[in-house]
Amino acid sequence: MAYTRKDVSTLTRTERRRFVDAMLELKRRGEYDEFVRMHLEYYTSDGEDGLRTAHMTPSFLPWHRQFLLDLERALRRIDASVTMPYWDWTRDRSTASAPWTDDLLGGNGRRSDHRVTTGPFAYAAGHWTIKEGVTDGKALTRDLGRAGAPIALPTKAELDRALADSVYDVWPWDSTVTKGFRNKLEGWGTGGGSASWLNHNRVHRWVGGAMLGGASVNDPVFWLHHAFVDLQWYRWQRRHPGARYLPARAPGPSDEQHDRVVARDQKLPPWDVTPAALEDVSRVYRYA
Ligand code: CU
Ligand code: CU
Repeated sequence: MAYTRKDVSTLTRTERRRFVDAMLELKRRGEYDEFVRMHLEYYTSDGEDGLRTAHMTPSFLPWHRQFLLDLERALRRIDASVTMPYWDWTRDRSTASAPWTDDLLGGNGRRSDHRVTTGPFAYAAGHWTIKEGVTDGKALTRDLGRAGAPIALPTKAELDRALADSVYDVWPWDSTVTKGFRNKLEGWGTGGGSASWLNHNRVHRWVGGAMLGGASVNDPVFWLHHAFVDLQWYRWQRRHPGARYLPARAPGPSDEQHDRVVARDQKLPPWDVTPAALEDVSRVYRYA
């Protein structure tokens, strides 16, 4: 039986508590930090050599889908009633709404150093010490909306522009492409500054603090954000029946992207799974 991932704003008090408790227990066991480490390890950009599996690449969507499934499986080993909720940032756009409440992820960071001081993941609460960061900071930090240079969350219309593209991805399959659903959703835009961050990327920027960079997994909102991104892949498939993951075949030896991207039927490191196998997960979970 497929389980259901729900909109975080619809969770009951009990569902909220059980989700938070399972996350804290995973952290207590040390398993959570393995996910942070893994995300840091796979944070290869297209300016570097080597295979890109997680970012700036067609497999951005299947890589994060499997990453979420692994975390969700770990949570469900702790509490089988828990599933990963998603944060619909086109609807819940205020710093006072879900998921920023004290019974979920807590609120914004304080003004002086952006340290989160409310909710179960506040440093002072004692259950969420950052161990694998890009800085030495041990406390979770946020700067919702980026007070010093405000940016807005992506709108429904902006998300729709990604969903409207009927092609999954285009050559050269990296952060520079201006066509294709994948990068319109991942959000590497053109030009400089905040206008160049679209959809997925813009949300990381809007949250700020720990959500910037390779250690963004340290903020539990990472998973709620990526669950919503994952839902967009499903919606895109529904909107464009028959459209598939691209590239279908690995770029050849003369292609500059040879050995740099994962084709539809190739293994997606570090797992023994292909993008094709992750295109339809409706037997595992659904979205409500
Ligand atoms: Cu990522
Ligand atoms: Cu992300």
